[in-house]
Amino acid sequence: MKKSSNKNLHKARDSKKDEFYTQLCDIELELKNYKNHFKDKVVYCNCDDPRVSNFFHYFSHNFEKLKLKKLIATCYKNQDIDLFSKNDSEQAIYLEYEGDKNGNNLPDKNEIGVKSLKGDGDFRSAECIELLKQADIVVTNPPFSLFREYVSQLVLYDKKFLIVGHQNAITYKEIFKLIKDNKIWLGYGFKGGAAHFINKHYEDYATAEDHKEGMIRVSGVTWFTNLEIKKRHEDLILYKNYSSKEYPKYDNYDAINVDKTKDIPADYAGAMGVPITFLDKYNPAQFEIIKFRKGDDEKDLSINGKCPYFRILIKNKKPQK
Ligand SMILES: C[S@@+](CC[C@H](N)C(=O)[O-])C[C@H]1O[C@@H](n2cnc3c(N)ncnc32)[C@H](O)[C@@H]1O
Repeated sequence: MKKSSNKNLHKARDSKKDEFYTQLCDIELELKNYKNHFKDKVVYCNCDDPRVSNFFHYFSHNFEKLKLKKLIATCYKNQDIDLFSKNDSEQAIYLEYEGDKNGNNLPDKNEIGVKSLKGDGDFRSAECIELLKQADIVVTNPPFSLFREYVSQLVLYDKKFLIVGHQNAITYKEIFKLIKDNKIWLGYGFKGGAAHFINKHYEDYATAEDHKEGMIRVSGVTWFTNLEIKKRHEDLILYKNYSSKEYPKYDNYDAINVDKTKDIPADYAGAMGVPITFLDKYNPAQFEIIKFRKGDDEKDLSINGKCPYFRILIKNKKPQK
C-alpha cells in the first residue's frame, strides 16, 4: 500500500476511536488560555469517569484559582476505579464538587459528592441532559465516533464548550456549517497537531521516535470551542503577492488554489481555496468562509481535471491594494 493512502487509513481510523484518555499536561496547556471564562461557572465533564479523568482532576484542583461555582462529572457505564475496565456496568455514577471546605485547597474525598445515576451515563440520556442544563461550560474529550451528535446536543442546549476532537470532523457537513457560521472555532491545539493519549486498547502506529509507553499517538487532533480566545482575533501575516502562474484557478469555481495557508497572497481579493489547516489561523475579521470542497457543479474542486486534497473556499475581507 502506498504510504499516503496508509496515512489516510490511519487518519480515518483515528477519528473513530473512543477509548483513550487525555493527559493532564495537554489539558493544562490548552486551558491556560481560557482562565477568564470560568468565574462563577458550573463546569460539566460528561464523558469522564471522575475518579480517573484528568479533566475532573484539572478542574477540582484548580477550582479556587478559576473561581468555579460547581464541577459535575458523569461517568459512562463504568463503575470500576480501573481506568481500563470495559464499560461493563450498566449503572453509572456522577460527582459534584463545590469547592474546598476544610481550607487545604484540595478536593478531599469527603468533599466530593458521589451519586448514582439511574441509567448508564450516556450523555444523551434524560438525566445527563438535566445535568447539562445546569452547566455553563462543558469541557471534555468526547467519543470521536459520536462527535456530530455530541456537538449538536451542545448547540441545541446553547452551551459554551471546549472539547477535543479529530480534525476530520471539520469535513462533516454539520460541523463545517457551524465553523462557517462562526459558532465553533479551533482552540490552540496540541503540539505539532498530534496528541499522546493514555491508552490500553489500541495498537500504536507511531514511529519508534514518537512512541511513548502506555500511550497512543493520534495525529490530527485538536480542540473545538465556542469560547472567545485571543488567537481568533489575530491577523495572519501575509507576505506573498498573487501571480497567475503560482496560483492556478479551479476548473469548476472562480477561485485560485493555495496549497499552504502561509502562502495566501495578500493582494488577492477574489475567492481562494485553502487547506483545512487554515482554520487554525482563521480570524473572522480578516477572512470570510464561503464554502467547502465543492465547485459550482457540486463536484470536488479540480485543476485541469485533478483534485487537490479538500479545500475550504475563503475570501480576504481586507486585501492589500
Ligand atoms: C476519548 S475518551 C476520553 C475520556 C475522558 N474524557 C478523557 O479525556 O480522559 C471518550 C470517553 O467517552 C465515553 N463514552 C462513550 N460513549 C459515551 C456516551 N454515549 N456517553 C458518555 N460517554 C461516552 C467512553 O467510554 C470514553 O471514556
